[in-house]
Amino acid sequence: MTAQQLDDSGRLRHLLTLEGLPRDTPVGRVGNKRHVLGGSAVCTLFFEPSTRTRSSFHLAAQRLGADVLNFDASTSSTRKGETACDTLKNLEAMGVRGFVVRHPDDGAVAALAAVAGEGTALVNAGDGRSSHPTQGLLDMLTLRQAKGPDFSKMKVVIVGDVKHSRVARTDLHALRTLGVGEIRVCGPQSLLPDDDTLKGCVVGDDFDAMLEGVDALMMLRLQRERMEEGLVPSLEQYHAQYGLNTARLARAGKDAAVLHPGPINRGVEVTDEVADGPQSWVLRQVANGVAVRMAVLETLLG
Ligand code: CP
Repeated sequence: MTAQQLDDSGRLRHLLTLEGLPRDTPVGRVGNKRHVLGGSAVCTLFFEPSTRTRSSFHLAAQRLGADVLNFDASTSSTRKGETACDTLKNLEAMGVRGFVVRHPDDGAVAALAAVAGEGTALVNAGDGRSSHPTQGLLDMLTLRQAKGPDFSKMKVVIVGDVKHSRVARTDLHALRTLGVGEIRVCGPQSLLPDDDTLKGCVVGDDFDAMLEGVDALMMLRLQRERMEEGLVPSLEQYHAQYGLNTARLARAGKDAAVLHPGPINRGVEVTDEVADGPQSWVLRQVANGVAVRMAVLETLLG
């Protein structure tokens, strides 16, 4: 997939995954409102729900001066059986040059990129359990703002439903690329992947034992829509073992940064006190999403 997203000169043509993307790949500037995409059309093509990703791409494209088309799968001709591929080709025929695509199936966005025309760019806004590259970029920007530019000194713990999380997979690629000092991964055995996703990480199921000395906690949403029944005995038990509350956060230390990609299941992954507290970077992540997505769209389409 890395080769598919780079052109012959190593420039980004699509953004499908952070896996294998070289650390020095230029991904635009993070800056203020500019009109570099005036006359271009960008479509947010979402086959799954979204608040943050869809809205921030919409704002990002608007701030760059593009026309923005919000494709609503629930009222579209996909309901009559039209394929995602035909949908893309038809919107392309209307002059849309940029597609921001979310899809429930692993690899669906890469499959669409493979049939897209020469001048068309696709951004993966989340496919199945695989990848959510702009979430990874905004998470790394937030970590850098919270803890400084030297990732080699950072200890980061990723907590929760890693098995079903494209955010976790993406952040793992990004953290490794940036040379982070230590990655700890914590969750119930039933929610940890059993392939090589966690290679090189310190893995455990005792959250309290994983907290000592961490610089950042990346809390994950329980992906109940992708989960078979019975992986978690109850939400109360999950919260008791893996929920982040003020007492646990105190163990990590007063400088530890708390991240969560959203949407938060309050009282399950984190308590209100932590989500809204002084160590939470959650809304900064959201704000960074607009800037990062402007940079990505400018790189691909500018
Ligand atoms: N973080 C994230 O992808 O949120 P949305 O599902 O609301 O876009």
